[in-house]
Amino acid sequence: MVFKSIIVALVLSLPAWSTSVPTPDFSLPPPSLCPQTPSNLHLTTDTFLPNPFKFADGLPVNTRAAWSCRRDEIGKLFQELELGTLPPKPEIVKGTLVGETLVVDVTHAGNSISFNASITLPVNGTGPFPAVIGVGGISIPIPNNVATIVFDNDQIAQQNDATSRGLGDFYNLYGSNATASSMTAWTWAISRIIDVLETKPESKIDLSRLGVTGCSRNGKGALVAGAFEERILLTIPQESGSGGEGCWRISDAMFADGIVTQTASEIVMENVWFSLNFANYANNVTLLPFDHHMLAGMVAPRGLFVIDNTAYVWLGPESNFGCMKTANKVWQALGVPDLMGFSGVGNHTHCVFPDAQEDTLNAFFDKFFFGKNTNTSIIYTDGADDLGFVEADWVNWNVPRLL
Ligand SMILES: *[C@@H]1O[C@H](CO)[C@@H](O)[C@H](O)[C@H]1NC(C)=O
Ligand SMILES: *[C@@H]1O[C@H](CO)[C@@H](O)[C@H](O)[C@H]1NC(C)=O
Ligand SMILES: *[C@@H]1O[C@H](CO)[C@@H](O)[C@H](O)[C@H]1NC(C)=O
Ligand SMILES: *[C@@H]1O[C@H](CO)[C@@H](O)[C@H](O)[C@H]1NC(C)=O
Ligand SMILES: *[C@@H]1O[C@H](CO)[C@@H](O)[C@H](O)[C@H]1NC(C)=O
Ligand SMILES: *[C@@H]1O[C@H](CO)[C@@H](O)[C@H](O)[C@H]1NC(C)=O
Repeated sequence: MVFKSIIVALVLSLPAWSTSVPTPDFSLPPPSLCPQTPSNLHLTTDTFLPNPFKFADGLPVNTRAAWSCRRDEIGKLFQELELGTLPPKPEIVKGTLVGETLVVDVTHAGNSISFNASITLPVNGTGPFPAVIGVGGISIPIPNNVATIVFDNDQIAQQNDATSRGLGDFYNLYGSNATASSMTAWTWAISRIIDVLETKPESKIDLSRLGVTGCSRNGKGALVAGAFEERILLTIPQESGSGGEGCWRISDAMFADGIVTQTASEIVMENVWFSLNFANYANNVTLLPFDHHMLAGMVAPRGLFVIDNTAYVWLGPESNFGCMKTANKVWQALGVPDLMGFSGVGNHTHCVFPDAQEDTLNAFFDKFFFGKNTNTSIIYTDGADDLGFVEADWVNWNVPRLL
């Protein structure tokens, strides 16, 4: 009797989501004793998707701890060649909760900016609640027991066209010459929102269960945020296309085949999502020591569900499928392939989420936010078979098992 009530009390004191299967380990060991990235990196032509499991200096990645180093190195290379520098946490980050508005105040080198994020809590329940952060907005269905946090990314870094370079609150703080691209600036803003939430338990947000999403250009941003900010557990880029879920090399190959898809050459002329330096590589992407399978791989072993729309060739469906199928190899190496999934479904308008993907989306929410043992094993496209992606044309390396 006594024992039974102790057990009941124990069970009752646990949050509901912990009553099922053991939670997978979503963390990596901190990087230590990492090999040095050659400073005068000699960029070599690689027509294949570069090997995520080989350091820039040529050493193999063969343990989980080494992957941690490699993830760090990949992040540095992306900042240097494609995304610009992501500044660390500034000297002063504070904020206030005004109703459901989180006001974020940041000071750096004597400059200050303030921006808002709107929190919407579930109607029922007392929390703390898991939450999805929306880059500019949210266009996927969010379960009614999950909170949302939306901020105006255009205010942080504008993205009207190529003349938006250096405009927005981020550049008011760091100077218009900061190398950070708009997507890097949005990632920085998301990190500051989380910094402030860490000081505000009364917000009722459970910071161990955070997601990020965005669609199209903001989907590219959501992927970058999930790649760099390890406090995000589940990343859900929607219809992000080239510059997000697509690989530059495969998009170029599609374009060469006469398929009018977005490429690096086009994107650097169109907008400021990437750094100025990236323009030096955009016309010759085989020089890059990475591609976007490795940007996605930075999310591992945390959750990633990539939502694609095969109805738009401009988004590069073959590139997206092939790139993300290849990205999944990082999760395979870490022994958790089903923590990353891809689903490409067409026949619907851009950024209008189709019912056909809702069960899979909910399987990801249930697994990452509510600890349920759902089936998230999915690398699916409704396009003709694999949309023409031939792995042997793109992958010339093996997947190690990283322990
Ligand atoms: C941010 O929210 C505060 C509090 O509601 C409000 O006073 C302020 O005008 C908002 N700022 C912006 C830029 O929306
Ligand atoms: C909230 O709880 C009430 C009472 O149980 C219920 O009628 C309502 O459907 C719930 N709303 C949501 C959004 O779950
Ligand atoms: C920013 O760059 C421009 C053009 O290169 C230069 O003229 C200007 O002095 C720079 N400003 C700062 C604050 O570094
Ligand atoms: C890309 O760079 C490689 C290596 O420098 C060079 O061989 C190739 O001609 C370049 N291609 C273009 C299109 O510039
Ligand atoms: C696409 O949607 C339209 C309208 O809902 C429907 O009539 C058509 O059968 C759909 N096509 C496919 C291939 O699903
Ligand atoms: C998980 O779902 C996929 C299709 O989405 C299916 O192929 C696979 O068999 C399922 N796995 C299990 C264990 O049910």
